[in-house]
Parts: sequence; structure tokens; C-alpha cells
Amino acid sequence: MEQALGPATAPASPAARRRAEAAPARTVALAQVPDDTAERMTTEIPEFDRVLGGGLVPGSLVLLGGDPGIGKSTLVLQAAARVALKGQGVAYVCGEESPRQIRLRAARLGLEGAPVTLIPEGSLDAALAAAEAAGVAAVVVDSIQAVSVEGLDTRSGGPAQLAEAGARLVSFAKGTGIATIVTGHVTKGGDIAGPRLLEHLVDAVLYFEGADNGALRVLRAVKNRFGATDEVGVFEMTGTGLRSVENPSVAFLETHDDGASGCAVTAVMEGSRPLAVEVQALAVPSFLANPRRIAAGLEVSRLHLLLAVLARRGGLQAGNLDIVASVSGGMRLRDPGADLAVLAALDSAVKDRPLERGTAYLGEVALSGAVRPVTNPGRRLAELARLGFKRCVVANGTQPVDGIELLPVANVREALTTVANRRPQPRDEGGESG
Ligand code: TYD
Ligand code: MG
Repeated sequence: MEQALGPATAPASPAARRRAEAAPARTVALAQVPDDTAERMTTEIPEFDRVLGGGLVPGSLVLLGGDPGIGKSTLVLQAAARVALKGQGVAYVCGEESPRQIRLRAARLGLEGAPVTLIPEGSLDAALAAAEAAGVAAVVVDSIQAVSVEGLDTRSGGPAQLAEAGARLVSFAKGTGIATIVTGHVTKGGDIAGPRLLEHLVDAVLYFEGADNGALRVLRAVKNRFGATDEVGVFEMTGTGLRSVENPSVAFLETHDDGASGCAVTAVMEGSRPLAVEVQALAVPSFLANPRRIAAGLEVSRLHLLLAVLARRGGLQAGNLDIVASVSGGMRLRDPGADLAVLAALDSAVKDRPLERGTAYLGEVALSGAVRPVTNPGRRLAELARLGFKRCVVANGTQPVDGIELLPVANVREALTTVANRRPQPRDEGGESG
């Protein structure tokens, strides 16, 4: 009786039966897995390599997204040509442009002599087969929207096409060990049916951003299985291609006018390095029932929140003003450590009085009005000191750094008092005033 109930004779569950029937999968000892990240291919473009985590990893798939016209094709062509000039085979699938157009761009970059194999082809499978046959080490697919997977009767660039193309690119990269970069246009609204669909499939997702009116471009890793996320690279678009900017803080502050109202400088942590940026705000009387709030480079919700904190905790009323806030150089603020600078810029803009020259602002602002310390204060302060800033308004308890005086504050009210006490006195307008 006991035997009849024993596990050995109990009928196997369907799941157990399926396991018994399946051919066991291959197993690999962790320590035996080759570490091919050591064989990274550098692109010789310092800021691109930095964002990749030190270069392209064989067999990895990288998505490079960004607005049309931002410079994706320029960057991948420059990288492809540099890798090819070092003697590694590179194929460039130009689904979007003709070989003549690519050649013209290469000439503009001074790289028309690079031994890159062009594959003008709209069918993804045919293009990848050609790249594999050419025996290359890296392939660029420019762009995912311009290639299609045959046999799917949906339009190229549509969600079904993108998902299938993404899956095929992953299996191509993994199966062949060829480092693969695919570009994708992302429209300003952040089209969710676009290349963002591929984010979970690929090894790294890089987005190229920039201000509408400037030459500076920021390349940001939002995902990277082979490197740090949130690492950024800074480039300048020149007449002869993208140039790595070695000293981004200086570039971001190039247009900094510390005599103008509404301008405040802070340092944000971007990946492993601190970058100084300028927040600019402008406030003008509004003729609208709902005054406008326009934000470029920061979330408009963050702007609303900081205006609310200023109103409640700082007594600054801006309800009848249109307010515009932006960040220098097309940088997008993600770091809450910039809050205090946004606040100082808004206060200065609303009062139309410039802030003290040579003073920077570092601090997170809570809804309670408390000013909280930032992460990595030492590195940020050192960067500001290096750039010649003399003082910095910071949260209480921030450790001092050589070369820069700290002006600690506990909350928004104290911060505004500090700002007001140190504000340059209005100039004697003399003959100018009428
Ligand atoms: P492109 O790389 O074609 O952008 P994307 O592939 O992201 O759509 O770059 C387009 C812009 O860059 C275009 O307006 C021309 C400009 N550009 C330069 O200013 N200098 C250059 O050397 C090159 C090649 C392009
Ligand atoms: Mg392009």
C-alpha cells in the first residue's frame, strides 16, 4: 500500500514528461567562456569609444538612435572608415542613400580612401549575407527603417518589421561574431512604435541629441551590456564631420554670459565625469489665461515643480509670467543636482536681475523646500573650480574642495537670501535711463 503511493510509480506530470523527452541543452562552464570584450575594436573616435565602453565588442549589436539630421550617418561612416583604415573589414549597408551619396559624404570627411565595403541593399537578409560573405569584422546598417525583412507583408519601418529585423540582427551578430551597429530615426515626440521597440533586444542603446541651433551633439548610452550606462560623449558637428570635444564643460559654457539675468551654472554627473552646463531662464509678462511654460533640455514637469516650490517656499510668484527655460549646448538635464541652478536661474529671470559672477549652484531641491546634497560633490566642485568658478551655493554639510568657496544653505529660502545678498548691485544706468 505504501509502495503504491511512492513517488517512483506515480504517473509523471506532463511537464516532467516533456523534460524527459527534450534533448538536453548545451552547458558551458562559466570560467571557460572566452572573454572577447578584451578584443574590443576601437573606432579611434575618442568620445564614441568612451560611450561604447572602450570600443565595439565582437558579436554585439548596438542601436544608434536620434532625430533625422542629427548626424547618425556621419558618425557611423566616420567610425566605419577609421576601423577599416586600421585594417579590419567593415561593411556599410546603405539602405537609405546611394553609394554616390556615401562617397560624397566620405569625401567631405576626408575618408573617401577608406577600404569600406558598401552594400546598397534594401533587403536585410541579402545585406547581412553579403556582409558575412565579405568576411568583415564589423557591419553598419543605416538605417533600420530603410531595410526590410522579406516575407512580412507589413510596411518597412512598421512595428512588425522592426521587431523581426531586430531579432534577425541579434542572431546575425551573435551567430557570426560580427560587431553590428544599426541606426534608427527617432522622432522628437519619442515615437514609441519606432526603434525604441528594439531597446530590449540589443546590447547597447545610444542616443544622439543636440540643440536645434547648435553644433554640439551629445551621444548618450541609455543601455550598455558592455559598459557604463549614462556615459556621454560630446561632439561638435563641423564642416568636415564630427569632432570629439575634449573639454565639454568649456564648450557648454562658451556662450555663458554671467552678466545676463536668468543664467546659472551647475555641474551635472554624466556617467563617469562631471560636466558644467548653464541653465537659462527667461520670464516675460503673459497675455494668456494660462501662461506658457516652455522647457528645452529639461522636463517641463520639473520646471512646473520647481516653480511651485519657488512660489510656496520662496514666495516668488510667477503666475502671470510666460517662462522659458533651457540648457546650454543641447544637453538634457537628468540629474536632480541641477535643481538649485534651475531655481536660481528662475529667480533671477523673474526679478530680471543677474546672479553674482563666478558663482555656481549645486543641490537637489525637495518639495519641502529643503536643499539636499548632490552625489559626487567633490568631483563636481573640482570641475567648477577648474573652470574658474570662485564660489558655489551648496547644501549644508557638503565637504569643502580646494579652490572654491562654499556657500552652504539648508533650504530654498536661505538659498534665495544668499543669492539676493550677493547679487551685483544694479548699475548706475546714468545716461541710458530715460
Ligand atoms: P547625417 O549624418 O546625415 O544625419 P542623420 O543620419 O542622423 O540623419 O547628418 C546630417 C547633417 O549634418 C546635415 O544637416 C549636414 C550636416 N553635416 C555637417 O555639418 N558636416 C559634415 O561633415 C557632414 C557629413 C554633415
Ligand atoms: Mg542618415
